[in-house]
Amino acid sequence: MEKPAETNTPIHDSLARRWSPRAFSERPVEREKLLSVLEAARWAPSSRNEQPWAYLLAAREDIANFDALLGVLVDSNRVWAQKAPILILTVAHTRWQKEGTPNRVGIYDLGQATTNLVVQATSLGLSTHQMGGFNVEAARARFHVPEGWEPVTVVALGYSADPETLPEALRGREIEKRRRKPLEEFVFSGTWGIPSPLLESNGNK
Ligand SMILES: Cc1cc2nc3c(=O)[nH]c(=O)nc-3n(C[C@H](O)[C@H](O)[C@H](O)COP(=O)(O)O)c2cc1C
Repeated sequence: MEKPAETNTPIHDSLARRWSPRAFSERPVEREKLLSVLEAARWAPSSRNEQPWAYLLAAREDIANFDALLGVLVDSNRVWAQKAPILILTVAHTRWQKEGTPNRVGIYDLGQATTNLVVQATSLGLSTHQMGGFNVEAARARFHVPEGWEPVTVVALGYSADPETLPEALRGREIEKRRRKPLEEFVFSGTWGIPSPLLESNGNK
């Protein structure tokens, strides 16, 4: 299913077409495509080029590993994510490598790398669904995530499927309209809360 963003101004095709389905096909992800999305993450910018990110992969056929990652998800995510062929635990280094002091932008940098991954996946015809709903401490313990590293999200990656394959309770959300705030609510100039003059008569509603 396609659910392209209804944009006021044209944006890159892979940004417009990205959305977060819950209906995943069990079709495996080709190794080349998986390597490509990880390579995209690799080339993200980061403060001091620290690259403070790590990805723990779990492919569906690697049953013990996959079940372990599935097992840390909250129930409402596990119910649909179990069909995804790949789950990825994303982890940020929240300390500077050299000084060991807190890196305020470590999670931001992980987010940028993961956006690269997600957009590259879209460009390859794959779908992604990021999840914050999981037990962080259980993930840390199960996957031996070291001190100074923070599990942040789990990403489901694969090919989307027909919404009809979802449990009935989830179908409505799958087809509901995608919504976004207008630019006026978050693009300011001069003073917090004052929309930038750039937006005047831009029709950003
Ligand atoms: C950091 C993050 C955490 C999220 N956590 C969840 C989650 O736990 N469960 C879920 O179903 N969706 C989750 N989502 C998906 C969002 O609900 C989704 O991106 C948002 O509703 C916008 O929809 P779209 O991605 O289809 O444009 C998360 C997305 C992000 C970026």
